[in-house]
Amino acid sequence: MVAILKEDAPAVRAMRLDDLARVVELETECYEFPWTFGIFRDCLRAGYECWVLATSSEVIGYGVLSVAASEAHLLNVCIGRAHQRGGHGSRLVRRMIDLARWHHAARLFLEVRPSNTHAIALYDRIGFNEIGRRPNYYPAKRGREDAIVMAMELNLPQD
Ligand SMILES: CC(C)(COP(=O)(O)OP(=O)(O)OC[C@H]1O[C@@H](n2cnc3c(N)ncnc32)[C@H](O)[C@@H]1OP(=O)(O)O)[C@@H](O)C(=O)NCCC(=O)NCCS
Repeated sequence: MVAILKEDAPAVRAMRLDDLARVVELETECYEFPWTFGIFRDCLRAGYECWVLATSSEVIGYGVLSVAASEAHLLNVCIGRAHQRGGHGSRLVRRMIDLARWHHAARLFLEVRPSNTHAIALYDRIGFNEIGRRPNYYPAKRGREDAIVMAMELNLPQD
């Protein structure tokens, strides 16, 4: 009999300190100006909602959410290049939205580079709306880049 070993489906679980080496590896692979190990460690220490999407053998993506009073902020969401375009990013963002609702946040905000058209398409599709811009928010290869600020109302009845 031939055993066929298939990669198990990734599941969402809480991020741990021992995930950070892999998380930083994905971060560095996916962003031109990546967060450092120290930033992720501080997010864990601060009690932010830090989650990974992982198979039994590897972390393939992660998301970080902060909640203060009635406002939540999606600070980071990333899927490793090898796993992009498989619906994982949408799944992770939806999970972060659920978490924000669980914390009774009324509104969820995020910032995204105007050049990041893939992420903007994802956020649009999920129901975020552009509500403004922060001029010169991000470092860029040539100077600075604006941020598009997007938001989603969480008190609205769900479909
Ligand atoms: C943005 C990101 C999280 C999307 O993750 P993903 O798993 O590839 O996304 P999904 O497969 O769920 O795609 C959802 C939708 O997003 C859009 N999208 C995602 N990747 C795209 C691409 N390469 N080209 C065009 N549209 C894309 C599409 O609308 C897609 O829906 P479709 O596949 O039905 O057309 C991922 O590309 C990523 O991690 N990028 C690097 C980090 C980053 O930029 N994070 C966002 C910072 S604000």
